[in-house]
Amino acid sequence: REPLPHLRVNEKGGIWVPQRARPRRNRKNEGLRSMVRENIVLPANFIYPLFIHTEDYNQPIGAMPGCERHTLDSMLKEVGEAHALGVNSVVLFPKIPDSLKSNTADECYNPDGLIPRAISSIKAKYPNVSVWTDVALDPYSDQGHDGVVSSDNLGDGGKGRILNDETVEQLCRQALCQARAGADVVSPSDMMDGRIGAIRDTLDSHGFTDVSIVSYCAKYASAFYGPFREALDSAPREDSNAPANKKTYQMDPANSREALIEAALDVAEGADMLMVKPGMPFLDIIFRLKQQTSVPIAAYHVSGEYAMMKAAAQNGWLDERTSVLEALLCFKRAGADAILTYYAKQAAQWIQDS
Ligand code: PBG
Repeated sequence: REPLPHLRVNEKGGIWVPQRARPRRNRKNEGLRSMVRENIVLPANFIYPLFIHTEDYNQPIGAMPGCERHTLDSMLKEVGEAHALGVNSVVLFPKIPDSLKSNTADECYNPDGLIPRAISSIKAKYPNVSVWTDVALDPYSDQGHDGVVSSDNLGDGGKGRILNDETVEQLCRQALCQARAGADVVSPSDMMDGRIGAIRDTLDSHGFTDVSIVSYCAKYASAFYGPFREALDSAPREDSNAPANKKTYQMDPANSREALIEAALDVAEGADMLMVKPGMPFLDIIFRLKQQTSVPIAAYHVSGEYAMMKAAAQNGWLDERTSVLEALLCFKRAGADAILTYYAKQAAQWIQDS
């Protein structure tokens, strides 16, 4: 065949597209690819979320294959296995029986409650594992809200309001209780205004200046939390006095500039790290916060994202290992330093195997 007339022919008689810069040269073998690779994901970047309850059996979670509500013994085993694979941080989420729930969620600062007991058992057995806690009322709220609900009808849609400052007081009690039990990091996920500063002052004035605060600073009112709410039985109740959604405190997924305000406030109030949540649909938010602040950024690869990948993998529609490791790497590329993911232990195993 004659070469196409507008292409050239080189000295060896081969086709020559006269193109001097050829980016493919840096991809030609693994030696070069690995030399110029900009990001790497390590087990040390992961925070492993664990669900716990007070029953004496493990309860699988329907929409999260591979995750379950653990007994304290099983939780300890899981922490040990993850730690052996290089995962040094865990975050705990409790399933609380209805009988202990109330509007003011006072069980959240019971020093003999499930979370304080879990924290001290992990610190006793694995002192090098850092224990993160969720600071939020929803697992303890009989309305399924992250805040105390007013009994009036002065809020959104003629329903009750989520009372900001009353909630912050409860969050301070909760964070202090977790710090006393030995938590290394408390992470408020409630989105009330002013809670980072109030929690910092509470911890400091009680002698816990070393306990870190990771703020869920850009937390969106997302549909991707569905499986988590099943795991904790914590969805906003239809019979709540407040609306059965979290839109008056969690952010609108349509917005990004609001995240910059939240970040600036939280850093000024003493947050040690900022969290963006959910993860994959919000990589642009991670990127924008990374430009604006110098504190480390964590990304939450949430329950709905886990469920999607598991479902596709179980159907044979996605290769689980490569697609999950790619998703986690993309968090790093977007600017996340740490990644909270239900895949932490499995991904750490995959990274070790490679
Ligand atoms: C609530 C909380 C939620 C998650 C973590 N903390 C759910 C919510 O805001 O309703 C969701 C995490 C996930 O979906 O994996 N304080």
